[in-house]
Amino acid sequence: MMTKRVETDLYRAILNRRSVRRYDRTPLDKEIIAQVQHIIDNVEPLLDENQFEVLHHNGMLIDKAFIASMGAYGYIVTPPHALAPYIIGSQYPLVDLGYRVEQIVVRLTCLEIGTCYIGTLYREEENRLRLDLPTDSRCGALLVFGHPARSTSGRALNSLMRSVPMGNTRLPLNQLFFQETFDLPTNPPDHLSPILSAARFSPSAVNAQPWRFLWRNGGLHLFVKRYNSKYGPGEGQAYRFYDGGICMANIKLALKALNIKGKWILYGHEHEAPDHPPNLEPLAKITFE
Ligand SMILES: Cc1cc2nc3c(=O)[nH]c(=O)nc-3n(C[C@H](O)[C@H](O)[C@H](O)COP(=O)(O)O)c2cc1C
Repeated sequence: MMTKRVETDLYRAILNRRSVRRYDRTPLDKEIIAQVQHIIDNVEPLLDENQFEVLHHNGMLIDKAFIASMGAYGYIVTPPHALAPYIIGSQYPLVDLGYRVEQIVVRLTCLEIGTCYIGTLYREEENRLRLDLPTDSRCGALLVFGHPARSTSGRALNSLMRSVPMGNTRLPLNQLFFQETFDLPTNPPDHLSPILSAARFSPSAVNAQPWRFLWRNGGLHLFVKRYNSKYGPGEGQAYRFYDGGICMANIKLALKALNIKGKWILYGHEHEAPDHPPNLEPLAKITFE
């Protein structure tokens, strides 16, 4: 499946990207902001009918008090920029949103710009009011970005946060991947490893990693765990959709980097998912050409 024109930088960005929590206060210069806007304008939709918008704020709005009021965790310091990406639409809005925002995240990583999601699902309405977002919009997370802190203490904080187990661990593939049946998870075949590694390194709220994969009849099926204790009770359980979308974006970007063609098909009325245990929720499948 691996072919000639591999986009190494893109693939490396998918695997190496980590949340940055302490930033250099200096805003990015105009040319870089223009590149960021170009990235935003060229995001690929999952569903064309969903309307995607991105508000750009400088860091003033997303201050410490705001981050805390969103119930966000983590110690996020002096991000010079923040995006409030939101979506309006009735079909898989949070999946599509995660799918689109992660493309921005990976492309910013290619430009060596640091990013961190700040989840808002516990206080979505409050977030909507404060940012004056449309009442029917969904905004599962803000995205702060900027140059990672260069000072010794800033670098130390960033690596410390990564060394916290939650921030730095990923479940092994042999706990996430199933072949043909859901009897026992197993290691994926070699040809799927580069794609599933990209999926495995996806960021997720509280690093919950809700995704599970089934390889059957030449298609890769994506499921998310219906209940994830890490998300906490109530609204936060919907992060599984946002995080599922993030994972789909990483897979799609990895296919692009590896020059493999593939298209996501969402499950719904028209497409039936393979049999699966009740604790898993089917999201989509992708077939490779
Ligand atoms: C939807 C979403 C919401 C998140 N919310 C926060 C947050 O509020 N505070 C924070 O410090 N990190 C937040 N994160 C970052 C995750 O904790 C991080 O992605 C995960 O622990 C994996 O670490 P990594 O991004 O460094 O690979 C969020 C990530 C996602 C995808």
